[in-house]
Amino acid sequence: MAEFSLPANSRVSEGKVFKAAADAAQVRSFRVYRYDPDSGENPRLDTYEVDISRCGPMVLDALIKIKNEVDSTLTFRRSCREGICGSCAMNIDGVNTLACTQAIEDIKGDVRIYPLPHMPVIKDLVPDLTNFYAQYASIKPWLQTRTPAPPDRERLQSRADQELINSPSACILCACCSTSCPSYWWNSDRYLGPAALLAAYRWLVDTRDEATGERLDDLEDPFRLYRCHTIMNCTNACPKDLNPARAIAATKRMIAERHL
Ligand code: SF4
Ligand code: SF4
Ligand code: FES
Repeated sequence: MAEFSLPANSRVSEGKVFKAAADAAQVRSFRVYRYDPDSGENPRLDTYEVDISRCGPMVLDALIKIKNEVDSTLTFRRSCREGICGSCAMNIDGVNTLACTQAIEDIKGDVRIYPLPHMPVIKDLVPDLTNFYAQYASIKPWLQTRTPAPPDRERLQSRADQELINSPSACILCACCSTSCPSYWWNSDRYLGPAALLAAYRWLVDTRDEATGERLDDLEDPFRLYRCHTIMNCTNACPKDLNPARAIAATKRMIAERHL
């Protein structure tokens, strides 16, 4: 009979508890996944009590406070603190989102923080995104043209043409969508996932691009595109309110129309 229990060395154990100062006015507990592959130890959940009356309002503010004042070994990615760079994506309270735009007060009880799911972990809250970025690169995310550019100006678009790419261009490559997609969990070696497919769609609908046929050829594959089963987790997970599931459906339609 198949056995589905986790190997012993992947079980998460109870970790250290860092108590708040005795004079703390408003204490919240942050339960944070800790893992260092080099240590040979199992992952653990450390608990940090934080006085949120002396902390910014977002989960990232609390993580930065913990790292600065309590435990400098805690490792996570962040850069812009404004929901623009996509680097602070993690799983907070069971949802993939950006730590810098997730308000602490919107979470009930302990704040549980894990890395993005189903990705190899480099350390603590830092997933290995090597494959994710390689998939993004594989869709050739740049303008491809065959005709010479106009000698005296850029390749112009109408306002309506530009609006076609407005929304998909707003993707910040945070990976919240791909790491919430069951098809991606099980087939990320061959399925491109919603983030890369949204990027592919962005170039398919760019009226200046002249490689539409080749782009569709590259996508017409049982795994790269058609592992999407329209489960919609990706669209629900996107912290920028984008709709990769709709872009994937539109891409499938473009391929189907080529065969009519
Ligand atoms: S719609 Fe497709 S890409 Fe989005 S979560 Fe579902 S299977 Fe994954
Ligand atoms: S589509 Fe949304 S969730 Fe997916 S990578 Fe882009 S911004 Fe992140
Ligand atoms: S730190 Fe840039 S999106 Fe959160």
